[in-house]
Amino acid sequence: MSVVDDVRLLGKVVGLEQDFWPQFRTFPISLGKWKEGIIMAQYRAAVLGCGGRGRAHADGYAAADNAEIVACADPVEENAQKFAGRYGVEKVYADYRQLLDEVKPDVVSICTWPHLHCEMVEASVAAGVKGIHAEKPMAPTWGEAKAMHAACETAGVMMTFCHQRRFNTEFRKARELLRNGAIGEIVRLEGYCPNLFDWGTHWFDMMQFFNQERQAKWVLGQIDVSLERKVFGVPVDTAGISEVYWDNGVWGLMVTNNNPDTPRISKLVGHVGMILHGTEGRIDVHVSDGPQLRVRRFGQPTDEWPQVTPSQDATALSVLDLLKCLETGREPELSSKKALRATELIFATYESSRRRARVDLPLDIEDSPLISGLEAGYWNPRPREAAKQG
Ligand SMILES: NC(=O)c1ccc[n+]([C@@H]2O[C@H](COP(=O)([O-])OP(=O)(O)OC[C@H]3O[C@@H](n4cnc5c(N)ncnc54)[C@H](O)[C@@H]3O)[C@@H](O)[C@H]2O)c1
Repeated sequence: MSVVDDVRLLGKVVGLEQDFWPQFRTFPISLGKWKEGIIMAQYRAAVLGCGGRGRAHADGYAAADNAEIVACADPVEENAQKFAGRYGVEKVYADYRQLLDEVKPDVVSICTWPHLHCEMVEASVAAGVKGIHAEKPMAPTWGEAKAMHAACETAGVMMTFCHQRRFNTEFRKARELLRNGAIGEIVRLEGYCPNLFDWGTHWFDMMQFFNQERQAKWVLGQIDVSLERKVFGVPVDTAGISEVYWDNGVWGLMVTNNNPDTPRISKLVGHVGMILHGTEGRIDVHVSDGPQLRVRRFGQPTDEWPQVTPSQDATALSVLDLLKCLETGREPELSSKKALRATELIFATYESSRRRARVDLPLDIEDSPLISGLEAGYWNPRPREAAKQG
């Protein structure tokens, strides 16, 4: 069986559309494949931000048959040069605006910290890109998240945000089990993680993934901001709780806390993961050393541990999905429309804490109530060394 066949098989396991897979030439990535000048790449891609996530996105372009990375930008020269060397990128810029102006790429990956996402999206749209794959979380404020999405909608630009867990085999298997009635009817979706913004965006997104991509009706939440903590430059909650309601009768519950400051209450392995509660049992999907899957059925003495093919590189798959959707016009799995729904739940939880009330959606604010609250002295967190990771 060839590598491409392997990947097609994985595609079936993951449950992706058949036509998604032929794009893979090799996996893992073969570099310098375009240099011979025989194959012309359909999409000229640029990566803005050459750190960890820049490399993760680049692995996706390197695996694609219809794209090549023609330029990269990073003000830290060492990062840009290392990246360019690794992926064979010829045009290297310190200023991303100059890159957009001179290179006019078809697709950009925005892999910088959240405060830069909105201006980079707007500049990329103005430069005429066809597609944008941006890192999560969308932006530090709800207004910026909405503005980015609107700019792309208006200009007809396809934009995605990297909630790549949608491509993990364990999560796709969990959804398949749910759909096949393994735990009866879905009742409640629970997420456990260190904070609502940086981590929570993944679990809020996965709640929609498990609940038929529905728009939530309302959110009731509370956040504690008693310790100074920033993740990728954005202040986050010390602990939080968020109750979400969808009109198909499903409830969401997100619990955030961060040892040792706030004790973790989840008994999931690693304390980071999701529990899907049904009328006849529950499914745990937890992330310690990578996602694992457990099914517990009411009345059954033992747990089941369904075996799934280990996930391939989910971020590379997310890049390939966007490239395919640019060709077909299909909505990408990680569309900004879906990302906006997850993001709304973050800011609605903050807003519920500010209002001390339930918040009906759509959310009618522009700011981040957490950031505004800090500025207004609504919360007075104790100093703590700024942490990059939450
Ligand atoms: N999807 C995921 O699972 C996941 C995992 C980790 C991080 N992230 C997100 O990815 C984003 C980036 O994280 P990272 O770990 O790659 O960070 P990083 O610090 O490793 O990389 C960021 C890069 O951006 C560069 N940069 C700064 N200003 C720039 C500018 N004006 N123009 C171009 N480049 C600039 C920095 O020099 C750095 O090289 C964050 O939003 C983070 O939340 C997502």
